[in-house]
Amino acid sequence: MRVGVLTGGGDCPGLNAVIRAVVRKGVNGHGFEFVGFRDGWRGPLEGVTMPLGIEQCRGILPRGGTILGSSRTNPFAVEGGVERITDNLAAAGVDALVAIGGEDTLGVATRLAELGVAVVGVPKTIDNDLSGTDFTFGFDTAVNIATEAIDRLHTTAESHHRVLVVEVMGRHAGWIALHAGIAGGASAVLIPEAPFDIEAVCAHVETRFRSEYAPIIVVSEGAVPADGTGMTLVSGEKDAFGHVRLGGIGDRLAHEIERRTGKEARAVVLGHIQRGGTPSAFDRWLATRFGLQAIDAVADGEYGVMMALRGTSIVRVPLVEGTGALKLVSPREYAEAQVFFG
Ligand code: F6P
Repeated sequence: MRVGVLTGGGDCPGLNAVIRAVVRKGVNGHGFEFVGFRDGWRGPLEGVTMPLGIEQCRGILPRGGTILGSSRTNPFAVEGGVERITDNLAAAGVDALVAIGGEDTLGVATRLAELGVAVVGVPKTIDNDLSGTDFTFGFDTAVNIATEAIDRLHTTAESHHRVLVVEVMGRHAGWIALHAGIAGGASAVLIPEAPFDIEAVCAHVETRFRSEYAPIIVVSEGAVPADGTGMTLVSGEKDAFGHVRLGGIGDRLAHEIERRTGKEARAVVLGHIQRGGTPSAFDRWLATRFGLQAIDAVADGEYGVMMALRGTSIVRVPLVEGTGALKLVSPREYAEAQVFFG
């Protein structure tokens, strides 16, 4: 059997660990051959492949990024895209596909599976917002990077008696902000799920200064002010899946806090630092197990499923279950963090 592998969407620490596990178990355990598709769905769409075997996977376990490359190509937004994919898969002699991606990449996999393409999904995103799985790999690494940044910012903020706003990734879901904010002892954590009141944020800032500490405000890039609270945002350009390119809330917030409290405020945008570099041990472990189980699903001929972590077990769930709705921070989970605000 010949299996194609692709990685799509924003890259994420642990992608290479999945590829390595898929190939190692596929070759040694099942006698499969592999072909790598370049840059997410662009590979099968344009027929761009690369050799993929045990040789190509040597030494990649601790490396961030993806040896296959990635993109946000949406074949359903391209005229004749689906036919081009099925033709190119046939031309490459591919019997089954392992698609490693987040909401968008697996959303495409879901639709292709419904059209009869033999595809198995592996969930990835630093945002941890895919339903169906307790965690996605990449998230733990991102949270560790953000937490280390917050730890470092505490000391410089205190030395200068200033507010530091830390903007982290999280388009729709505030998981990175919530976990890193709790781990780093933030004065407030602002997430997309709960539009914030700038006056309440300023009150937390004042409280923290009164206790002789400097406030650290952690904000998800997708956080928004509540209507009628006197703060507005401008929106940016869109990608192939219709997502607005985010970024800028940290600066806007720092500006508003400084204007309203008179305290100096600066913003730090962690951006792609959260996605780059070596994966944490947890992410290597999770990614490896997802890869092993994904190629077993291919061997079993069980398509239209994605791997999911439930407790400590890896299970197969229908792709549609993992991509149907986003996993968001619940009010109860957010309330746990709010105990420490101010
Ligand atoms: O989808 C994961 C993510 O990290 C989001 O949190 C973020 O909005 C997006 O990627 C940004 O990625 P890029 O700059 O590659 O478009």
